[in-house]
Amino acid sequence: MENLNLVSLPHFVSVEDLTNEEVAALIKRAEYFKQGGATPRLTKSVYVTNMFFEDSSRTHTSFEMAERKLGLTVIPFDPAHSSVNKGETLYDTSLVMNALGVDLEVIRHSQNEYYDDLINLKPHQHLNIGVINAGDGSGQHPSQCMLDMMTIHEHFGHFKGLKVAIVGDITNSRVAKSDMELLTKLGAKVYFSGPDYWYDREFDQYGKYEELDQLVPEMDVMMLLRVQHERHLGDPNEKTFDAKAYHEKYGINHQRYDQLKKDTIIMHPGPINHDVELSGDLVESDKCMFVQQMQNGVFMRMAMIEAVLRGRKLGGLA
Ligand code: NCD
Repeated sequence: MENLNLVSLPHFVSVEDLTNEEVAALIKRAEYFKQGGATPRLTKSVYVTNMFFEDSSRTHTSFEMAERKLGLTVIPFDPAHSSVNKGETLYDTSLVMNALGVDLEVIRHSQNEYYDDLINLKPHQHLNIGVINAGDGSGQHPSQCMLDMMTIHEHFGHFKGLKVAIVGDITNSRVAKSDMELLTKLGAKVYFSGPDYWYDREFDQYGKYEELDQLVPEMDVMMLLRVQHERHLGDPNEKTFDAKAYHEKYGINHQRYDQLKKDTIIMHPGPINHDVELSGDLVESDKCMFVQQMQNGVFMRMAMIEAVLRGRKLGGLA
């Protein structure tokens, strides 16, 4: 049955302001799409462009797949050959897109909260374009977070009381930021582990930082994070980084895998550093949701885009 409690948002830049009811409705809608449910009938064309100023395989292609499944017209944008290289600002680039008739921008950018300039307009500004955040620096990654919630919900059917460990380079991970916020709000119990120099005391408000081997037999979800080498410029720990030592201390190897509870799942947003965060031959193991997360991502992004279409009354949707 189609869920009639549909979410409607002007932009989708963060998970911060989502209510638990909106999260539940988006998961339900994504599950409906996953089961082959009909997409909304658009009575007017909707134009979207994907502006990825940082590298991406899955998020970029997943958004494009979601857009095409919804019947949107995708306008190519190639940052490497754009006027951004002539110094044009992101705001002015968005004005260009808006002037040409683009309705929605999906943006990934290295600057935290880059979207502020695009959605909190000054009185003399008239930009009118929907923004969906595909990752801002080490800030937020709402679509990864929402597909993670869908994957956890698919497996356990609820969030309350679930024990979730977020492990790895937490300071530099936008996935971790979004996930710790939303998981806490949904009633899960969050724990952290990994190198202490990539852990920020400000995360204490969301959960407890513990030794990995203490967490392994207790957790329902082991969420592993990639070591974000590209964000370690000037970080002295980057110079001394040793993949083998990291794997031994903070990675899921076979020995730790065998200590996980029967129902426990392993998650990783990708890309995975094999034999660093996770033993390479466990990537496609029974407990590892790496592939399911990517599959769910398409359907969750459809639900998120649809929410913005409704919020902006695009395509004739209300
Ligand atoms: C993540 C990202 O870009 O933040 N990747 C993704 O979107 N699946 C995580 C990462 O790059 O480590």
